Amino acid sequence: MRDYILLYVNGREQRISAAQAFQPASDYLRLDLGQCGTKVVCAEGDCGACSVMVGRLATEAGLEPGNELTYVPINSCIQYLYQLDCTHLITVEGLKFDGQLNPVQQSMVDSNGAQCGYCTPGFVVAMCGLANDLQSQQQCQGKTCYPSEKQVKDSLTGNLCRCTGYEAIINAGMAVDLGRYKSFSELYPDKEMVANFKAHAQNELMLKLGGRTAFNPTSLSSACKFLNEQEKVVIVSGGTDVSVNMNKRDLVPANVMSTAALPGLSELKVLDESGRKVLSVGAKVTLRQLENLMKDLVPEFHKILWVYGSPQIRHAGTLAGNIANGSPIADSTPFLFLMEAEIEVTGCGGVRKIPMAEFYKGYKQLSLHKDELITRILLPLPHANELVKLYKISRRQHLDISAFTAAIRISLKGNIIERAFVVFGGVGPVVMRCAAVEAALLGTTHELVTYEAAGKIAKEVITPITDVRGSRDFRLALAENILSKFYFETASNEREFACR
Ligand SMILES: Cc1cc2nc3c(=O)[nH]c(=O)nc-3n(C[C@H](O)[C@H](O)[C@H](O)COP(=O)(O)OP(=O)(O)OC[C@H]3O[C@@H](n4cnc5c(N)ncnc54)[C@H](O)[C@@H]3O)c2cc1C
Ligand code: FES
Ligand code: FES
Repeated sequence: MRDYILLYVNGREQRISAAQAFQPASDYLRLDLGQCGTKVVCAEGDCGACSVMVGRLATEAGLEPGNELTYVPINSCIQYLYQLDCTHLITVEGLKFDGQLNPVQQSMVDSNGAQCGYCTPGFVVAMCGLANDLQSQQQCQGKTCYPSEKQVKDSLTGNLCRCTGYEAIINAGMAVDLGRYKSFSELYPDKEMVANFKAHAQNELMLKLGGRTAFNPTSLSSACKFLNEQEKVVIVSGGTDVSVNMNKRDLVPANVMSTAALPGLSELKVLDESGRKVLSVGAKVTLRQLENLMKDLVPEFHKILWVYGSPQIRHAGTLAGNIANGSPIADSTPFLFLMEAEIEVTGCGGVRKIPMAEFYKGYKQLSLHKDELITRILLPLPHANELVKLYKISRRQHLDISAFTAAIRISLKGNIIERAFVVFGGVGPVVMRCAAVEAALLGTTHELVTYEAAGKIAKEVITPITDVRGSRDFRLALAENILSKFYFETASNEREFACR
């Protein structure tokens, strides 16, 4: 058992004892290490001012620890230190090339990309993350090539600026010559770090401070035993929900258990189950890894993942965390209900699979036993001839929580509806399949009047509330009209099918 966190910051080894471990990385960087370039504004993942790069072993989807570090941008305000054991953080102070501003930093200066400068380190880190990614994908070394406007904008949806406006910042990103950009692995050769992480990762991490414990098990049996023996354990995967609750909602868990060191939970592959394609998503697979895969596999789900939080959130957050958080406005769960996914959970007694439809017992109440955690999600993929559409209604396109979600899946025989699945979120305490609407659609023709009639039934059977994201009437109108929208989007002869 190990009683300190091993972390590298800008290439330097840090050993962090329990006395410092129960804090967000942003506080540790600023207050304990004096690296004040990393800023904190919102402390809940919304502004990106605290962005840092994190390098981990095994962030490639589906792979267990490899021999090099993969770097992604994250929000350090919602990453507690125990989540970052055996990782390398690169802050804005660590981005210079040979003591000079790197091409992203220089481009921000040249393009007048900063005014008060408070948001600037976060923007610079996010753009360095993009440059690092593109440079490795496009093999730009030695050539002249620049990020596109779309690539820059996509990489910055998690960063807010309140004075400059975005034009100068986006121009700065587009003017970075990727051919002159050094990758993080060139800046920080990782052989020593990798060896150190591998040696440390074999020992479970257990930190105790006051009445609090943080535990990083290295086997599922150890994880289940801990869950069984300790009271009120909070499991942490990406921490994008848990850490916000700790920072903003006074959650002070006596016991936290991070899944970071658990083996075997990174699987992301399509299985063939008696002719049916089923995607197996390990509990540690990040939303970004899923987004990348879905681009070609199920573009409709990719559309939802692309507007999910921000790159920093998607690089940390997981599908398992979204499911277990149990929010009725979670963005991934309508698709899981639609496709009749199964949640694989592991406990002291072994493994069991829970159908999505039985996973929630009420608002944020899960069918998990005390000793169980989610280990995998089994997601059947749409058949090639099914019509599938997913909807997220929010005030902003990116980095916003949904007011209402819907998912509709139809199989046609000729023009007759043979199978119908209709799911709504944000209209009750849990995401719900709407049996009455499905029944109204079955056996009828795929034409506008059918969906208009089904919309009227939807309005009768849901019980939305009014809250800050939208009124009850707004949600009733959405549920009614989304069915007609589905019809208009799928009526064409040249239908865009959901699964390629
Ligand atoms: C700025 C911001 C933007 C966001 N935008 C969106 C959005 O657009 N759409 C959306 O749906 N959500 C959004 N979220 C919410 C959050 O990012 C997602 O719910 C995310 O999927 C949670 O995953 P995680 O791994 O970070 O979960 P965590 O925070 O680690 O955990 C969430 C919950 O799941 C439990 N848990 C985690 N892993 C397991 C496991 N393996 N087994 C059992 N229980 C487990 C935890 O105990 C906790 O209760 C946003 C959050 C933030 C901070
Ligand atoms: S301080 Fe705003 S995202 Fe971290
Ligand atoms: S430059 Fe002031 S907040 Fe962006």
